[in-house]
Amino acid sequence: MKTTRISVTGKKVQTIEADLLVYCLAQPLKKNSKTAPPCDALIRQQVKTAFDLGDFSGKDGETLMYYPALKEETAVKANRIMVMGMGKINQETDASAVFETLRELGGRLAGTCKKVNAKTITICLPDITMISPGKTSQCLVEGLLLGDYRFEKYKAATRKKTDYTGLKLIRFSGLNPVKSVRAGVKKGQIAAHAACEARNMANEPGNGWTSKEFAAYAKDLASEYGLKFTCLEKKDMENLGMGGILAVNQGSAIPPRMIILEYTPEKKSSTLLLVGKGITFDSGGISLKPSAGMEEMKYDMCGGAAVLSAMRAVGEEKPDIGVVAIIPATDNMSGSSAVRPGDIIRHFNGVTSEIVNTDAEGRMILADALAYGIKIFKPDGVVDIATLTGAVIIGLGHHHAGMVSNNDPLSDLLISAGKTAGEPLWRLPLNKAYKKQIESKVADIKNIGGKSGGSITAAAYLAEFVGKTPWAHLDIAGTAWNFTEKAYIPKGPSGFGVRTFIHLIHAWKGQKFNR
Ligand code: BES
Ligand code: ZN
Ligand code: ZN
Repeated sequence: MKTTRISVTGKKVQTIEADLLVYCLAQPLKKNSKTAPPCDALIRQQVKTAFDLGDFSGKDGETLMYYPALKEETAVKANRIMVMGMGKINQETDASAVFETLRELGGRLAGTCKKVNAKTITICLPDITMISPGKTSQCLVEGLLLGDYRFEKYKAATRKKTDYTGLKLIRFSGLNPVKSVRAGVKKGQIAAHAACEARNMANEPGNGWTSKEFAAYAKDLASEYGLKFTCLEKKDMENLGMGGILAVNQGSAIPPRMIILEYTPEKKSSTLLLVGKGITFDSGGISLKPSAGMEEMKYDMCGGAAVLSAMRAVGEEKPDIGVVAIIPATDNMSGSSAVRPGDIIRHFNGVTSEIVNTDAEGRMILADALAYGIKIFKPDGVVDIATLTGAVIIGLGHHHAGMVSNNDPLSDLLISAGKTAGEPLWRLPLNKAYKKQIESKVADIKNIGGKSGGSITAAAYLAEFVGKTPWAHLDIAGTAWNFTEKAYIPKGPSGFGVRTFIHLIHAWKGQKFNR
């Protein structure tokens, strides 16, 4: 993967050579202010002129680009100067809204760099009093790196030499203490890198990213960060009675894998279990999906990718809670050996299930992973993440992921982590009435619950496998790709969930949820 160097410097910005020098200005709070946004002396005249002409007032999304023509006179060594508006920021502005403004600004900046072929940039850090300099740099870095993402692995033959290859060097200047800015930069790099890795996995096609590649990646990650890696193979699953994942895998030529990564800190206060749906291609099985758009079902592993990438961040940041990740991985294929509608299977915990629709496969593999993970690791809380239902797109569109939980404090903690990350979650209800919808005449439960409330009945299925353990389920079918259009979210897979998990882990602090 391309790496972008990021440094924090105390040098005068004029003296730094760069393709682009960037300033971020807040819009004056007063309505119809007659004065230009306050700014550094170096750019004051240009900003004032642009303001007087009505071209720039500091509004969010506004930019002013110019070329310091008389380099010797002003001694500016950068080729271009860009001033970017951040909009109005006052003490009442929600901190998470400021984070989002900065990420968006970083994303837009990455877009401009691509347009003007800027590879080295210097950013004068804005002084935003309500958030720390560390947070400011963290969010800008996240936005920049997430916005600078590209997946060109399979495009080598058509790529031109002149094509933009991304940012090489970002320098931050201007805010003290340098130490906290550096720490913020590091955090931003970790989060963005993890999310971009999740995007890379998702962008791989169904023939490039199977359960095998998933496991190999996890194994490498484990050796890089000293995590424990375990992979349950098909034989192990048979011995353990994991009838859900085995059934889904029945039609496939590639064996299933249950990938487990464990991070254990020296002093463990609490353990979080993350489970991610790793369907590397979902054809629907015998209940075949329509062909239009079926290629998008290579993204059906985005939950698994999010969990695996969150473990990279865990490896980097070494939090003081234990984190275990489980990814049940297989593709869902059709054919003569595939599982049939009407078949009855037995999950790891003994619960039997009537497979009414083979396209409702996510819940079947997650069920075994959840029951197994809870039994073996006895976590204090568990969060699963999955592109589980088309119904969540009908209900929430592409702007919120759906969440179902059996625990209010865990649910609140996740909603707040999602808000901080710019990955909004919306809680849906779950009660006996929904659970009734998945009652089967011939088995303990069935794998679909009828037309209504599809996202909730899918969660009701999962609930059968978590017992009383505090649990939350994230349905990212609408946000794993096609997520809300933002400057730092590209058109394809978004990496949704990775940064929410990072914030969740930061906020966890040995949390013991009421059972
Ligand atoms: N992977 C799909 C859900 C999905 C649909 C994700 C669209 C992203 C975009 C899942 O396995 C599935 O097929 N679910 C079915 C469930 C139904 C058969 C009860 C669905 O949503 O149609
Ligand atoms: Zn499906
Ligand atoms: Zn699926």
